[in-house]
Amino acid sequence: MRTPVVAGNWKMNGTRASVSELLAGVKQGQPPSTVETVVCAPYPYLPQVEAALAGSGIRWGAQNVSEHAAGAYTGEVSVAMLQDFGCSHVILGHSERRSLFAEQDPGIAEKFVAVTAAGLTPILCVGETLEQREAGATGQVVEQQLMAVIQRAGVAALAGAVLAYEPVWAIGTGRTATPEQAQAVHAALRARVAQEDAAVAAKLPILYGGSVKADNAAELFACEDIDGGLIGGASLKADDFLQICRAAAA
Ligand code: 13P
Repeated sequence: MRTPVVAGNWKMNGTRASVSELLAGVKQGQPPSTVETVVCAPYPYLPQVEAALAGSGIRWGAQNVSEHAAGAYTGEVSVAMLQDFGCSHVILGHSERRSLFAEQDPGIAEKFVAVTAAGLTPILCVGETLEQREAGATGQVVEQQLMAVIQRAGVAALAGAVLAYEPVWAIGTGRTATPEQAQAVHAALRARVAQEDAAVAAKLPILYGGSVKADNAAELFACEDIDGGLIGGASLKADDFLQICRAAAA
């Protein structure tokens, strides 16, 4: 009933040549049409991604956006600019933005409002650090990150959104959450949304991210509340990314 979503987060990687090769490979491999397949590219490559993927059924987006509409915000990129290049999705609140660029819940909530108001799909990231997990605070941390957005945007705004659970300790480390660990957090997140609106919760895709690879994707995606993945390193290799997309269709 929920369409699986697999989104690649290329992070700050790529050249014109590597992007061209990667997109050709992904297109040629034809990700399953039953999976919503998305690539989130660095800003400069968006025109190239649009040219390569238009009409392919594969969607594309960015990894961040400004909460402001236009004007004197040096170095920022607006939602309208992303739309100008055909973007459908935007990653918001990734843990690297939170930890390395001081993004906090209130600003992320403003971005969420700007993105949903324009009809784009935010991929809202939540997740705990290792210290927080070991202190038994995982549930509290992810709930706070989620509720900051719901309180600002309203639960109805989640109807067009995607949520991504990315434990910080599993990102780029090769240390994946076990399916049981991930499922427990996904179920708790869905239950929390259901307290606000059961229908929105039932339809909300919740993706897992953190060292998802071709060989562990299937067991994660088999969990009831895991509706796909947000993929970092493995999204930079066409074959690996395609295998993960196929695992989400199974
Ligand atoms: P890795 O798949 O490289 O661990 O990255 C996960 C991630 O941060 C996706 O947003």
